[in-house]
Amino acid sequence: MPTPPFEGKGKRPADEIPEPGRYATARGFCLTSAFWMIVAASAGLLGATELIAPDLPGSLAWLSFGRIRPVHINLVLFGFVTPGLLGAAFYYVPRLLRTELFSERLGRLTVLAWNGALVAIVVSLCMGYTQGREYAEPVWPIDVLVVGAFGLIFFNLALTVKNREEPLLYVSIWYVLAAVILTAVTYALGNVIWRPDSGALSGIPDAILLWFYGHNVFGLLLTPLSAGVAYYVIPRACRAPLYSHTLSLLGFWSLLVIYTHIGTHHLLQVPVPTWLKVIAVTDSVAMVIPVMAFLINIWYTARGRLGEIHADIGAKFVFTGTVMYFFVSIQGSMMSLPQVQRVTHFNNWVVGHAHVGVLGFAGMIAIGGLYAVLPKISGRPLFSRFLADLQYWLILIGVTGFTVVLTVAGLIQGNAWLNGETVYRVLGEIHMYYIVRAGLGLMVFSAALIGMYNMARTLFPRKGGAP
Ligand code: HEM
Ligand code: HEM
Repeated sequence: MPTPPFEGKGKRPADEIPEPGRYATARGFCLTSAFWMIVAASAGLLGATELIAPDLPGSLAWLSFGRIRPVHINLVLFGFVTPGLLGAAFYYVPRLLRTELFSERLGRLTVLAWNGALVAIVVSLCMGYTQGREYAEPVWPIDVLVVGAFGLIFFNLALTVKNREEPLLYVSIWYVLAAVILTAVTYALGNVIWRPDSGALSGIPDAILLWFYGHNVFGLLLTPLSAGVAYYVIPRACRAPLYSHTLSLLGFWSLLVIYTHIGTHHLLQVPVPTWLKVIAVTDSVAMVIPVMAFLINIWYTARGRLGEIHADIGAKFVFTGTVMYFFVSIQGSMMSLPQVQRVTHFNNWVVGHAHVGVLGFAGMIAIGGLYAVLPKISGRPLFSRFLADLQYWLILIGVTGFTVVLTVAGLIQGNAWLNGETVYRVLGEIHMYYIVRAGLGLMVFSAALIGMYNMARTLFPRKGGAP
């Protein structure tokens, strides 16, 4: 039986002006996301400029590429995308359960702890304190803070579920709870939290554990949080029931079963046991099951209702994110094949894939989720639809452009390396692509500024302005 979201059937009407303090957690995470997107994009832009002009930072070590790159990556993941998706979740979980959030006070504390961790990440990485492992760079005290923050979020949401009035748990709730608890565990494992001095094991087992965690950041954090938002926003915007409850369950369980096995596809060129590589490659191809179960469900729900999607700015971002998910997943399954990876590994092709995934898919859905809940948590219409549309096009052109230039640059590098060319001699050939990438990055950075302005004007209208 298809399950509709329960918007509007709650104890409270959906569009009332919320009393002070209500949705404070959702608001906090929304603002966190919009603010850190600006900082994250500026770090990306600085990194891109340094790839064009490597002498730019001069003797300022804290601005060097090796420090700015992890700042960019940690901030896009934990500053922009995750809080954006959580901001939407802190609105829709209580709404779908027809109850209040267990504790807004605890939620506010979590937002504070989260932002404290982000500041600590920037300062420590810029100062050169790092565990030196990709996606697990932050040092031990920050790891503890991050795991604690995920724990608090899970506690708050789980008790909201316990207090619920709605007996049926809509699929978005499954996704958000699973994402938060699984990430608390895999983050602690991947950061080897029981070894505060190094945050690492040694040798090959460390690489395997790191990439078990590394790909889980995308597969067990960003993907389920994004799916949760899409399952909420799309049926609501289309005013239609979800196409299939069964497909949503198939998508959920197959994601959990399959995604956990594929991290070793990052290590195909490394002497890890062959059986592990075989599992990683096979399951990377099998990812088509959860991906298509989710996409068919969303797209069939929206079938014949693209007008409604176009009219709703939140749904427009989210729907575009689902299209990007299709492309990034097909590309990902291809990149897992050893024959393909011989050309694409270690070069800009992978950076292109990363931007389609984290910005095009999860980032787009995060922004869509924010726009979907913003009028509800502020009790006011969005400040400017025009600015939101402008932001949409800047990001769409930016991320599509990134994909094209980085894919071409990656193919040039990969083919040259296969033919025995040295790394540095190919750099001249891809210089022009780096310049175009930085130009496109400027568009994404501008989009971040526009998004922050639009959100701030919606949440904090000028005195005497429209209600
Ligand atoms: C079917 C789904 C997917 C598969 C099979 C897949 C596969 C892969 C593979 C094989 C690599 C490593 C490439 C290499 O190092 O040569 C990779 C890298 C990456 N993927 Fe995916 N991917 C998928 C979906 C996604 C999604 C949805 C996201 C984002 C939410 C994502 C984000 C990334 C990122 C950021 C990297 C770069 C990691 C690094 O720094 O080396 N992927 N992916
Ligand atoms: C705000 C949205 C953005 C997201 C979600 C995002 C995401 C990512 C991710 C996941 C990576 C890791 C790639 C890998 O290891 O394979 C990365 C690297 C990078 N990004 Fe972004 N990015 C964003 C914006 C930007 C912008 C605006 C620029 C400016 C051009 C930029 C430039 C870079 C650069 C230079 C790298 C390092 C690439 C390398 O090591 O060669 N990013 N980004």
